[in-house]
Amino acid sequence: MTAQIIDGKRIASELRARVAGEVTRVKRDHELTPGLAVVLVGHDPASQVYVRSKHKQSQEAGMASFEHVLPENVAEADLLALVTRLNRDPLVHGILVQLPLPKTINTEAVINAIDPAKDVDGLHPSNAGRLAGGFAALSPCTPLGCIILSKSVHASLEGMNAIVIGRSNLVGRPLVQLLLNENATVTIAHSRSRDLKHLSARADLVYAAVGRREMVRADWIKPGATVIDVGINRLSSADGKTRLVGDVAFAEVAAVAGAITPVPGGVGQMTVACLLVNTLRAACAIAG
Ligand code: GUN
Repeated sequence: MTAQIIDGKRIASELRARVAGEVTRVKRDHELTPGLAVVLVGHDPASQVYVRSKHKQSQEAGMASFEHVLPENVAEADLLALVTRLNRDPLVHGILVQLPLPKTINTEAVINAIDPAKDVDGLHPSNAGRLAGGFAALSPCTPLGCIILSKSVHASLEGMNAIVIGRSNLVGRPLVQLLLNENATVTIAHSRSRDLKHLSARADLVYAAVGRREMVRADWIKPGATVIDVGINRLSSADGKTRLVGDVAFAEVAAVAGAITPVPGGVGQMTVACLLVNTLRAACAIAG
């Protein structure tokens, strides 16, 4: 069997086009321009690439984009003061503080300072708790993207056996909650789980989000299963170029799976598209 390649690039582009259409409508009918503020601390090259992409794509969708770049050694109090200012700014409907933050800064305190109504990352305990309780919430963008990609293959995830490998606040934990909301049966696994291979080989849906390059192998996969690869691992080759590889050994797993996301061109494309969805949602909710 050769798996269907799930085209995250195309699906994300269609989603962005739908958001742009809605932005045009709310601007025209409600004189509302959704605004996204992205805060970057320091100069981590990967974070710079992500932030640039968020800025560009929100502008292309017709939104107002506000970029704040702070030095690596910024005082926590100054970062918190910026978040407070953004909370109060009527032109800003979504706030995203790019992670990871420098070790000198208490990440939890910064996330807690964001107004939950503007928390387009879905990381504030209020949004995480609402999601866990099955209530409407702003949900983290990468897990939302994983659900959309899964539903591009399966109209319904109801009753399917899913395994989420990884338990981060940004991906694994919220993804489990979103899958439960879809009525899937969910196994939560992680790097310390015993017998990961056998747990994974029972699943109809495999979500790899452990951050270990090509950890998921062909014999972890039930024939015909859908595999969603959240991993983005940077590999430097001898010629000095960087190549991205996922948490899934793509070529061998594609020979067994029914459908699989590539890296790049899979989940990564969806994260920013879902951020635009959340910003539009937040703007409409705040504006009433
Ligand atoms: N760093 C990597 N992914 C993300 C994300 O989705 N949100 C934030 N805030 N930081 C990230």
